[in-house]
Amino acid sequence: MGMMKIGLVGCGNIASDICRAVTEKELAATVVAVNDIDATQAETLLRRYKLNASILDLEKLADTADFIVECAVGAVVPAVIKAAIRFGKDCLIMSLGGLLGNPALIDQARGAGIRLRLPSGAVCGLDGIRAALQGGLSEVTLTTRKPPQGLKGAPYLLEHGISVENLEEALVVFEGSARDAVKAFPANVNVAAALSLAGIGADKTQVRLIADPAATVNSHEIRATGAFGEMVTIMRNQPSPRNPKSSYMASLSAIAEVAAAAAEFVSGAE
Ligand SMILES: NC(=O)c1ccc[n+]([C@@H]2O[C@H](COP(=O)([O-])OP(=O)(O)OC[C@H]3O[C@@H](n4cnc5c(N)ncnc54)[C@H](O)[C@@H]3O)[C@@H](O)[C@H]2O)c1
Repeated sequence: MGMMKIGLVGCGNIASDICRAVTEKELAATVVAVNDIDATQAETLLRRYKLNASILDLEKLADTADFIVECAVGAVVPAVIKAAIRFGKDCLIMSLGGLLGNPALIDQARGAGIRLRLPSGAVCGLDGIRAALQGGLSEVTLTTRKPPQGLKGAPYLLEHGISVENLEEALVVFEGSARDAVKAFPANVNVAAALSLAGIGADKTQVRLIADPAATVNSHEIRATGAFGEMVTIMRNQPSPRNPKSSYMASLSAIAEVAAAAAEFVSGAE
């Protein structure tokens, strides 16, 4: 029985962490195809992990792989899902912001019998949100807390004359819908998108962003209320060991999704 063949769209940090897991045999899968808008990124990935994989365009990658991992950029998500549908391949979408503006893609994939895996990424509690939705959710709020230096220079703060210098206490720098939050702070797009997609959507999900001088790491707190009761979750994220700009959990959740897909692939092939 063959191992699941992965096609990677995007050869950056998350792709590297997946390749590391593959080469260290943590995953019952192989990387057979890669794609990147920047050819040197693709070549570097192949060389660094000694991958026996081809650099292919999206169509050929979708044809060759059993499972497609999008870990590139939101803009490429519609093309990835369309290619997955055309070739009947399941896929993992990391750039969840790319689905917020294109919700029909999720239904199209479902209609075509394609399984889209959407990672929990840098938050936790999305299982509870999905379950709670069945009985009705009245409120979902994401509170993201960051050390002030992590927000320095953010265009929204500059435009609104908000300073995060020399703060002595926590300052709420943004409060609004997830849809507006994603526009104001594109760097936070995935967490807000993951929560919106799991629950009541980007217009009803509320986001608060806090610059907190007492914070040492980025944290995400979800609070939800509904017929089920009340839910509160907190994730305090360490940066990825190889990429200080990304949460380690983002890569770990990608690896966990690929592992689940590989396990399903193997059992499906029996
Ligand atoms: N779901 C989550 O929780 C979560 C968490 C972290 C990052 N992400 C998202 O995952 C994606 C990858 O993250 P990363 O840290 O590996 O980023 P990265 O910047 O390290 O790597 C992205 C790679 O994609 C390539 N790329 C850009 N546009 C492309 C295109 N149109 N087609 C093919 N390749 C393209 C880039 O050249 C780069 O090599 C990003 O969109 C990021 O926002 C999601």
